[in-house]
Parts: sequence; structure tokens; C-alpha cells
Amino acid sequence: MKFLPTPDTLVDMSDSTPPQPADISKVLVTREQIAMRIEQLAEELVRFYEGRELTVLVVLTGALVFVSDLVRKMPLKVRIEPVSVHSYPGRATRSCGVQWRLPPPENLTGRNVLIADDIFDSGETMRFLLAAVASAGAEHVRSCCLLQKNRPDLGEHGSADFVGFQIPDEFVVGYGLDFDGLYRNLPDIGVLAEHAREPGA
Ligand code: IMP
Ligand code: MG
Repeated sequence: MKFLPTPDTLVDMSDSTPPQPADISKVLVTREQIAMRIEQLAEELVRFYEGRELTVLVVLTGALVFVSDLVRKMPLKVRIEPVSVHSYPGRATRSCGVQWRLPPPENLTGRNVLIADDIFDSGETMRFLLAAVASAGAEHVRSCCLLQKNRPDLGEHGSADFVGFQIPDEFVVGYGLDFDGLYRNLPDIGVLAEHAREPGA
């Protein structure tokens, strides 16, 4: 069973958003929408993991902001462990293959693990992490992403188990998501303007 966004959480590209830095061409998800959806996601997760201890693997650096808000809404016994991979080095806007920067703790035997990332695009990163966590002996592994790109080409493998928002297939930044290390501190999530992706921008 998957916990996907309901129609009222789908992003509609409307224009009713606060002003943004010049490098953002369009806000897709506002800070208010994020806060509301995180409350709902936390409730879904608490119902799902009720009575169990949970290890949240936070995929650095992109999921840092998301997970710090999410776990504080979850009254469960929670451990947080960092992992980090390279997949979009520097100015790339499509994945260039996944490699460890910080692998998970070696012994996850018997743990309930939730892998939490900022965005599920091709799913390559999440598949890599799921396989690694399963082979580290976790008893139960699920995935959670704040954002999911609308990629009909991916079919049934194109989704995390818990998803905050489905967004159009655009390169987005803010609320933890970066381009070349920048924009993670923006409170809303928006599309990066073409001019900001150009070399030397
Ligand atoms: P995937 O492996 O193609 O699913 O890509 C997932 C990873 O790529 C995420 O952990 C993000 O760090 C990064 N990523 C994918 N799309 C975006 C985006 O639109 N903006 C910023 N980072 C992205
Ligand atoms: Mg990432």
C-alpha cells in the first residue's frame, strides 16, 4: 500500500504565491502548503508505525529541512541516521549514477527503517538506498519523499511509499533542494529560472 497525495495536495501551478528571488521562475509549493502536508504525512506515518521503534535515514543534504520538520510532528520512538550519496554532482540537472558519500550504519538488523529523501525523480537514488538498507539486515524498509516528479514513463516503480506532493517534471529548488549547492534555504519550493542554470550564473 502506498501513501500518495490526495487531489487537494496536487500542485496546480496557480499564481497565488508570495514574491520570490529573481532566480525562481515559478513557485510550485508554498511554505504554508508544505507545513500542512507535513502534518498529514506525520499522521500517516504515526498510524503506520504505531507501537514500533523507527529509524529514519535522512538523505543528506536535500532531506535535512524536510526531515527536521517531519520528525518533530511524530510522537514515536525515533532514531535519526544520516546517509549521503552523489547523484546530481554540481550543476547537473539529471542523475549521473549513484555513489556513496556517507553509507548507512552497518548494522540495521531488526530495525524498522524509513528512508526519507527530498525528491523522487527517476527513483534511481531510492532504489539504490532500499537495496543497501535491505542488505544491512533491516527488518522492514519503506521510502518517503517530500516531492515526487510526475513521470508517467516510470510506471509502477515510479513512486515512494509515502509522498508529500506530486509536482510537474521540472527542476526545482528550495526547502532543502539545491542547484549547485545553492537555494536550499528558500522557504518555498520553486522552479529554477533558465538564466540561473547557465554557466557563470
Ligand atoms: P533520482 O535518483 O532521479 O530519483 O533523483 C533523486 C535525487 O536527485 C534527489 O535525492 C535529489 O537530491 C536530486 N534531484 C532530483 N530532482 C531534483 C530537482 O528537481 N531539484 C533538486 N534536486 C533534485
Ligand atoms: Mg538528494
